[in-house]
Amino acid sequence: MNRHISALSARGETISLLAPAKINLALHVTGRRDDGYHLLESLVAFAGFGDRIEITPAVQDRFTVTGPFARAVPTDATNLVIRARDALRARFPAKARPVVIVLEKRLPIASGIGGGSSDAAAALIGLNRLWALDLDMESLCEIGLSLGADLPMCLHGQQSGLPLLARGIGEALHSVSRFPSLPIVLANDGTGLSTPRVFQALSRRDNPPLPSPPDFSTIETVCAYLRQTRNDLYAASLTLAPALAGLLDLFAQAGARFTQMSGSGATCFAVFQDNAAAAQAAAFLKARHPHWFVVATETRSASE
Ligand code: C5P
Repeated sequence: MNRHISALSARGETISLLAPAKINLALHVTGRRDDGYHLLESLVAFAGFGDRIEITPAVQDRFTVTGPFARAVPTDATNLVIRARDALRARFPAKARPVVIVLEKRLPIASGIGGGSSDAAAALIGLNRLWALDLDMESLCEIGLSLGADLPMCLHGQQSGLPLLARGIGEALHSVSRFPSLPIVLANDGTGLSTPRVFQALSRRDNPPLPSPPDFSTIETVCAYLRQTRNDLYAASLTLAPALAGLLDLFAQAGARFTQMSGSGATCFAVFQDNAAAAQAAAFLKARHPHWFVVATETRSASE
């Protein structure tokens, strides 16, 4: 199924998209390029939960941010959504009529689950359709990569939602042909981490690559594989946010099959056996920490 089409609900000419949370189920740092960017190997999945973005033709451009994390989001030209809009407009000035963009920020910012990149990917895909630009995925990824290393994976997440193996700096993508839907909980205690600072704090940059992926037929197969993997950014993030370890311990107490930090953190995820166990664990965390961001959701699956 093409998620791009299914996720676009045109009300009049308003385009509404979910900008899903990106979850690095595993993230190995295997080297560094001459320009300072790190070489990665990552298994990435997309959640059924994310920010929401609405784009409507208008007489004048406007950008509004709503939702629980709106306060921390810049609304000027530093926002990746605005940069995505302007990057497309610079290439197609004649077609790029003014738009009102409303971003409902439901994901914590600077938290390792790709919120800003996913928002920008949604903006690129929505504007490509609204302005009838007819850009293919390759062109969108090229424009996306000029905005951030995670943009290409988020564009694929937006279009198909399928899990991916990412290499290079995150731009060399291969979809995983079979992958179960994982019941997960995402949690963040309010800590935001700067990605460049986390990369700078790395003590080692030449770690071994991901083990060869098996046939991911069940949740057990996925968890057994993930136990052989790492998030090489975790130790660096822990030096900046020591409370991370306690969050992973809480997940373990709540019966998680596997726990890890996503991206450069500080959001962590836990995989559960089923949705009921995930909902119960989310309630357990929420009861102890009412002000944390805690969400029970599922990752999107792939079937051959
Ligand atoms: O590309 P993006 O702006 O999202 O990356 C933010 C920062 O994260 C980069 O400037 C770089 O310091 C770091 N980074 C990295 N290697 C990657 C991705 C990001 O060093 N593969």
